[in-house]
Amino acid sequence: MSILIAGSANLDFVVRAATIPAPGETVLGREFRTFPGGKGANQAVACARAGAASTRMLLALGDDAYAAPLEASLREAGVMLQIVRDASTATGTAFVCVSDSGENAITVAPGANALLKPEHLPSLEGITHLLLQLETPLDTVTAYARAAKAAGVSVVLNAAPARALPEALLAALDVLIVNEAELAAVSASSGRVADALASLRVPCVVVTLGGRGACARADGEYLLQTAFAVEPVDTTGAGDTFCGALTAALGRGEPLRDALRFACAAAALACTRLGAQASIPARSEVDNLLRTAQDNQPQQLRALAAHCGLPT
Ligand code: RIB
Repeated sequence: MSILIAGSANLDFVVRAATIPAPGETVLGREFRTFPGGKGANQAVACARAGAASTRMLLALGDDAYAAPLEASLREAGVMLQIVRDASTATGTAFVCVSDSGENAITVAPGANALLKPEHLPSLEGITHLLLQLETPLDTVTAYARAAKAAGVSVVLNAAPARALPEALLAALDVLIVNEAELAAVSASSGRVADALASLRVPCVVVTLGGRGACARADGEYLLQTAFAVEPVDTTGAGDTFCGALTAALGRGEPLRDALRFACAAAALACTRLGAQASIPARSEVDNLLRTAQDNQPQQLRALAAHCGLPT
């Protein structure tokens, strides 16, 4: 049985600087490097490294020098690829500034990612979970989600980058993963996290809360998971690591509470190294952290509950 990720792949052009420039500002950065990235490809690598039995990815690439490192990184992680190739379109790219505090600002030039069409969806035979994001056209994402739902495949959407979602897409989802800004955009609510989660008619909604942890609402119940303490170097790809790791854990039948803990640990480790796919941990590393970590302490849980607007 396999997990299919359909989505974007970008070559990330990364520069480190003391701070991320404000609008109209120029900052002098330091070293420049390129890394394989793109939300879809990052999530596929995270899923494979998290130990998913078999991980497949549908992606679109140009026929240029940027495509090769993206393919190589995915294949090295063990992801099986179905590539839509278009020689007249550039491979997707992303321009990433990473600050000394590990935060980032990212601009994506979608290029070939915009070419993924509903008819490119491969056979869903043997697929248990389909993991999607929003760096490919919304109509295509909606068509894939609906086709998977009709085939009895569990549909997981990471609604990133943030935007409002059509009802047809929401209705096809089993799991929705968002950060706080994305939750506000999807729910059109700026109120308490718990209320925004409850307003969405998706069986399971998970919100990642950075250094606080994560909160999920499934079957009317809330689950809280505190963050794993790390010194952040670069948070690029941490959300993608969470999505891939969570889907891998759900794919092997773990209960949501355990899958949430596994995904938070994987995301924390991804913050400790530079680059998107380069920073995604292997399952053994995540399991080591899970064995030794001091997460979910009462005081941390109370602070997380208070942040979400849940009883402490
Ligand atoms: O989520 C991080 C990713 O966003 C980067 O790898 C970049 O390519 C953009 O897609």
